[in-house]
Amino acid sequence: MSDLPWWKRGVIYEIPVASFADSDGDGKGDLRGIIQKLDYLNDGTASSLGVDAIWLTPTNASPMRDFGYDVRDYYSIDPRFGTMADFGELLEACHERGMRLMTDLVLNHTSEEHPWFVESRASRDNPKRDWYVWRDGRAPGKPPNRWVSVAEGSPWQYDDATDQYYYHAFLDFQPDLNWRNPEVRREMLNVLEFWLDKGVDGFRLDLINFLYEDELLRDNPRRLGRRPYFWQHHIYDRSRPESLEAARDLRGLCDTYPDRALMGEVCTDERDDAVAYLGDGSDSLHLSFYLDFARVRWSAERFRESVGWLEKHIPAGGWPCYYLNNHDMSRTFTRLGGGRYAEARAKVAAAMLLTLRGTPVIYAGEEIGMPMSKVPRRVMKDPLGTKYWPLSHGRDGARTPMQWSAEKNAGFTSGEPWLPVDPSYAHRNVEDLDRDPDSLLNWYRRLIRLRSERLALQAGSYRVIEDTPKGVYAYLRESGEQRIAVLLNFTSRTVTFAKQMDALYGAAWKTLVSTHGAEGEPTPHGGIRLRPCEVLILETSA
Ligand code: GLC
Repeated sequence: MSDLPWWKRGVIYEIPVASFADSDGDGKGDLRGIIQKLDYLNDGTASSLGVDAIWLTPTNASPMRDFGYDVRDYYSIDPRFGTMADFGELLEACHERGMRLMTDLVLNHTSEEHPWFVESRASRDNPKRDWYVWRDGRAPGKPPNRWVSVAEGSPWQYDDATDQYYYHAFLDFQPDLNWRNPEVRREMLNVLEFWLDKGVDGFRLDLINFLYEDELLRDNPRRLGRRPYFWQHHIYDRSRPESLEAARDLRGLCDTYPDRALMGEVCTDERDDAVAYLGDGSDSLHLSFYLDFARVRWSAERFRESVGWLEKHIPAGGWPCYYLNNHDMSRTFTRLGGGRYAEARAKVAAAMLLTLRGTPVIYAGEEIGMPMSKVPRRVMKDPLGTKYWPLSHGRDGARTPMQWSAEKNAGFTSGEPWLPVDPSYAHRNVEDLDRDPDSLLNWYRRLIRLRSERLALQAGSYRVIEDTPKGVYAYLRESGEQRIAVLLNFTSRTVTFAKQMDALYGAAWKTLVSTHGAEGEPTPHGGIRLRPCEVLILETSA
């Protein structure tokens, strides 16, 4: 075991709580459901997935108009998910097996039903008025400025009662808190303290680069883009320097507790923004999502470029964090495409995710190749889906119930699932994939185990192997005596290359893991041959 902190060493697994496992038959996943599935995640043996930490999507009391990202009470657990006692039990059960638990924290906005907002909108002189961002229109019937919300449309919502607009970076039922108000700042630190005191190991910080907007509300410069949100260069409504300062405050508080971690959702299409939140590794967030990587299309060259950029620009002491998909995006299995090579591509992608330098975050269901489901309009739940249908189908397709078995409702619930189970569950489910040694699930398990056994994969340096054939992404991970080469063939062709590998420490490479068998065998002198979508992970020592 290395002495790296858990958030660098380990693999984090995102659980969309409502979709993971339902213990009480109400059709929605819950905390007790997760407790029942902990063995699947990590029972200490090679037959479980072996993840080190789980991140739960929000579990606070909420009207659930945005899947819990609309909080009504930060100091509670929503009864749909269970009780505070259930939460305590889950936390303890995680800790007993050496796993960490991170919760999602939505600091940028609340639900419009939060009592603070109910008060705030009641009158202009209410003591909570300034807890949210209220402004006059710039002219009758015109919002204060021309910003566009992440969820499209104006982020300003007119409120008759007091004849002012409130600001919402996301949807209109998610009013932004006013972080310039010291009371708000204090209260949000209290929220962190409350959960840290309970023993949570860290937080995933929702929209962390959105906490502050420009005080003068200056309009953003225009630019070309594929949809209205991208027609503006978002320099005044996101990633403001004050949000970075707030992140530092959060870090300061976090550091008064041992071994905790902050992982920021830096929501942006600018690569620089994500690294900005890493500071020098000690004064800002521990981890921040690198969205660029999750958006790369199927191409060895593009992934190499995206990783190379991060490696080059990350501050000294900063630590990369990679994910391929999450509850907001199209699921990897569908997004990466590949037709009959889809499964093979998913294996290549998993090998990359789990062997790069940095913390990998897996999204529940990714390990069994759950596809992006086609959720019909009439049962759609996502407010973005219902609002923009048919232009956008929203995010429900990434949130269908976890596929545990081929039984009714994929073994997710004994009741009526809140979103329909994807039909692929008949053959794509944990139980069946568990039995097949070559399945994607068992591939994830092997890679996670390999990572946990090899310091070079956890902590080693990252170096690209240059001049490989087109469509191949290959790199070295080196730490002390340990040298690991990861060779990924993104193409559906067989490729060969020799001199690149021989030039690296001769030909004394041994196969550690391969998608096509041959583990433990030495590689033939002078030649590496990768079959279509083959992954070879080799090792040599000095
Ligand atoms: C984040 C969450 C997303 C949510 C939004 C508003 O992007 O990941 O699910 O809808 O913030 O809170």
